[in-house]
Amino acid sequence: MGILNLFRGKAPAKIVGERPVPRHIAVIMDGNGRWAKKRGMPRSAGHAVGAETFRTIATYCKDIGVQYFTVYAFSTENWKRPKEEVDALMDLFRKYLKEAAETMFQRGVAVRVLGDLTPLPADIHAQIEEVDAIADKLGPDAATASLCINYGGRDEIKNAVRALAREVKNGTIAPEDITEDSISAHLYTSHMPDPDLIIRPSGEIRTSNFLLWQSAYSEYYFTDVLWPDFSTADMDEAIDAFNRRSRRFGGV
Ligand code: FPP
Repeated sequence: MGILNLFRGKAPAKIVGERPVPRHIAVIMDGNGRWAKKRGMPRSAGHAVGAETFRTIATYCKDIGVQYFTVYAFSTENWKRPKEEVDALMDLFRKYLKEAAETMFQRGVAVRVLGDLTPLPADIHAQIEEVDAIADKLGPDAATASLCINYGGRDEIKNAVRALAREVKNGTIAPEDITEDSISAHLYTSHMPDPDLIIRPSGEIRTSNFLLWQSAYSEYYFTDVLWPDFSTADMDEAIDAFNRRSRRFGGV
């Protein structure tokens, strides 16, 4: 891919060190359960190792110049899992969120939580407020690692539509004022560019309701590696594959 192609379209890659890196990388952290099963461990152990992988890869992304790193940690559909697995994931958020935010703050990474947080237990809400306060100290230009919790792409779009409908109803805007940009502005990701690259490990090839609106022109990268095993070398491979692609954003 010619260097000029990298700067076509609305989300140019940033050249850091020797090669360009995407501005925004998102990951569907899949394969934790299978990773644990292969080792005769409970699924929750896979999630715990997956949380460590999140910290390693998010920090690596910051180090190589990726501005936004966003992961799918708990979907609006994950409540359907057995209660003990949901409880274990909530416990992981409880134990890990603030500690991860503190250690990542030391490395210059702002941790944020995105999603419909209303159904989460009150103590996790309190943790998320603390996580936000830690991230605020880094200022608006810091590299950001966002965890999507109780996130669903359709749910997010539904909430944006409801908010816009309310604005039309109370006369703040006219229906014609609803634009692609105003819809984007009502999503959880309003403060960041759309993801350039979305990675799904573990051999599954579907989007699973992740960043549906934002992924219109994202490049997808699939790998058989299970998320707990995903290494910085795997991230390098994904970025190299991204850099070999020609993004045309519907043009020629
Ligand atoms: C999908 O793998 C993964 C999840 C539903 C949970 C992901 C959450 C984490 C890694 C924890 C992150 C938390 C923090 C605080 C960083 P799966 O369980 O569906 O795997 P399987 O397809 O192999 O069963």
